[in-house]
Amino acid sequence: MELHIAETREDLVERMARAAAEWIGAHPGSLVCLAAGDTPLPVYARLVALQAEGRVDLASVFYAGLDEWVGLGPADAGSCLQVMRDAFYDPAGIPADRRRVFDGLADPATECRAMERWIEAHGGIRFTLLGIGMNGHVGFNEPGAPDGEGCLVVALDDITQTVGVKYFDRERTLRQGVTVGLRSLSKAEIVFLMATGERKADIVGRMLSGDPAVPASRLLPHPGLRIYLDREAAGRL
Ligand code: F6R
Repeated sequence: MELHIAETREDLVERMARAAAEWIGAHPGSLVCLAAGDTPLPVYARLVALQAEGRVDLASVFYAGLDEWVGLGPADAGSCLQVMRDAFYDPAGIPADRRRVFDGLADPATECRAMERWIEAHGGIRFTLLGIGMNGHVGFNEPGAPDGEGCLVVALDDITQTVGVKYFDRERTLRQGVTVGLRSLSKAEIVFLMATGERKADIVGRMLSGDPAVPASRLLPHPGLRIYLDREAAGRL
């Protein structure tokens, strides 16, 4: 495991974007799994800028969406699909046949099987960039949820439902999610986990102490885990 703590968020974003660009450049044709959520958005913007500078070809790899709110589709503000399409896939010019994201309006179990087939067809996820939720989830691998193989339909934790309000333009009642499971993510060679801001300091501290109630703790034994924090998120270490 590598732990990177940057003095500023800008420095953190720059370091992560360059490391991700370097990996992508060295692994054409590989499958990459990227989180939505607010935290990694500046990294995606920087990756798009690096591509514009000719330093990386983001369409040289394939992409798998990490998770989705069951009940939300492409037209819904705050769906993972909408966030990733607008923040990354479209600005980066990723062709439709190089990406697969969950459709939250489709049958969740069928979506899971389709994503598993996509992951398998592209040789498994080799690189993933994750955030961490206020309850320690990664993707929608919620506290107490099984460590299942492949992709999972999950009952959303109360904290996930409460915190999720920040993404939406109106009131939503969302009780389920679909997610790539922790075991499939753990098969990646490189697992980037990113956290910024003081509000993440407690959960990051719990994760790094190996708290078994924190799903992200299960990534700690992974040899390719690289945790990127800003000074505030590292405040309880
Ligand atoms: C989003 C996702 C979630 C978020 C996490 C942190 O696709 O998988 O696990 O990464 O909830 O969200 P933010 O970055 O908004 O604090």
